[in-house]
Amino acid sequence: MLSETSADFFGYYPGTVALVTAIYQGQRNVMAAGWHTALSSEPPLYGVAIGRERATYGLIAASGEFGVNFVPAKQARAIQGGGVLSLHDGADKFAALGLTPLPEQPLALREAYLAYHCRLTATLPVGDHDLFVGQVQRTHFDPAQYDERRLFVGQAAIYLGRSEYVTSGAARQSFPPQLYRPEEG
Ligand SMILES: Cc1cc2nc3c(=O)[nH]c(=O)nc-3n(C[C@H](O)[C@H](O)[C@H](O)COP(=O)(O)O)c2cc1C
Repeated sequence: MLSETSADFFGYYPGTVALVTAIYQGQRNVMAAGWHTALSSEPPLYGVAIGRERATYGLIAASGEFGVNFVPAKQARAIQGGGVLSLHDGADKFAALGLTPLPEQPLALREAYLAYHCRLTATLPVGDHDLFVGQVQRTHFDPAQYDERRLFVGQAAIYLGRSEYVTSGAARQSFPPQLYRPEEG
């Protein structure tokens, strides 16, 4: 039975929260973003909704690029810190949260199991955020966290809302692709 609510309700979680990275003129930053989505496979486009008041917003707008990093459950504290601390207050979140950019690819985090390096292709105003659309230029991933079909087998950091996280790990349900399309004859 469903109940209607008039409240500002974030019940669409659980979901992953990305760590969005940006660098401009030597200034680097990382922030948590629960509002992220794949948008296109050809070309590969990924979107993140970023509030205009975020320090990260200015770095992405100025540099024209951003990183989208997914870290495992053991890094939930870093996600939360990335979403509470701000570069506006002078925080070096990489040091504070124990996050390490790859030397040769500073928008990717060593702690991530998956990292997209995106070139900004569109900035779409969406209410109180802007949707930054990025074309994926490079993808880094941790092979130990994926099986031979490239399905994630690690412990994902799954956000419930209100600063609470759980992880994946329940038994998988697998369905044949043709489940609802039985072969003719
Ligand atoms: C779990 C979580 C998810 C968040 N998701 C978003 C988001 O999708 N977009 C956004 O603009 N801010 C989001 N925030 C807030 C920013 O991460 C937060 O304002 C951060 O301090 C911005 O850092 P900056 O000012 O250094 O860029 C989120 C915060 C948390 C804790």
